[in-house]
Amino acid sequence: MKIVITIGGSIIIKNNDHNKFKDYADILRDMSHENQLFIVVGGGKPARDYIQIARGLKASEAACDDIGIEVTRLNAKLLIMALEEDAYPQVAKNFHEALEFSVSGKIVIMGGTEPAHSTDAVGSILAEFVNADLMINATSVDGLYDKDPNKFKDAKMFTEITPGEMLSILSSKENKAGTYEFLDITTVQIIKRSNIKTLIVNGEDPENLQKAVDGEKIGTSIISDI
Ligand code: UTP
Repeated sequence: MKIVITIGGSIIIKNNDHNKFKDYADILRDMSHENQLFIVVGGGKPARDYIQIARGLKASEAACDDIGIEVTRLNAKLLIMALEEDAYPQVAKNFHEALEFSVSGKIVIMGGTEPAHSTDAVGSILAEFVNADLMINATSVDGLYDKDPNKFKDAKMFTEITPGEMLSILSSKENKAGTYEFLDITTVQIIKRSNIKTLIVNGEDPENLQKAVDGEKIGTSIISDI
């Protein structure tokens, strides 16, 4: 299968620990024996910290986004380091490069691309671009909830949701640099228009990626609303 995986920066760069990169590299290496993998790495706290400094300097939203993109690419570089020769040695800066690098047969890694969206949106566009069979969003909670499960004990996780339902939840949220709580509007619109098979799983345990590919019932599955 051709699989696009988006890894939230909040998981992979947590506590500035190299072990998470190693754990991810081990699983991705195993998965790459049977699948063609494209990985999009998020920015996490370091991106938000840098964006905050840029904001303090009165940078525009687009300039703040640009800072965020640089940080996602740094995280992407660390994952390449962890994967050693199993990853294409350069971070793909756009979708054409991602496609070009994939001819090598190695795992292709990218971060952000352009301002005004998240790395999840990059993942969805990449999934369209390379005609992926599956997109997996590795996030810091078990799936998609009706409210923040870290703040509300009664938060309920969706096992299935349609893009239409997600868009109505998202219409009330902010869309500024460094503020994407879960899949942003752009991501969901792309999933909807191309009917991309998408799974949201808890990426704290990278083994969940393999489980998702094996068809185990974990996380939230975004199903077509047609
Ligand atoms: P992330 O995709 O990591 O944002 O990009 P996020 O969802 O807030 O963070 P985590 O990783 O899930 O914790 C970090 C920031 O970089 C900019 C945005 O400002 C985003 O908030 N960015 C990223 C872009 O503008 N364009 C991109 O293609 C990617």
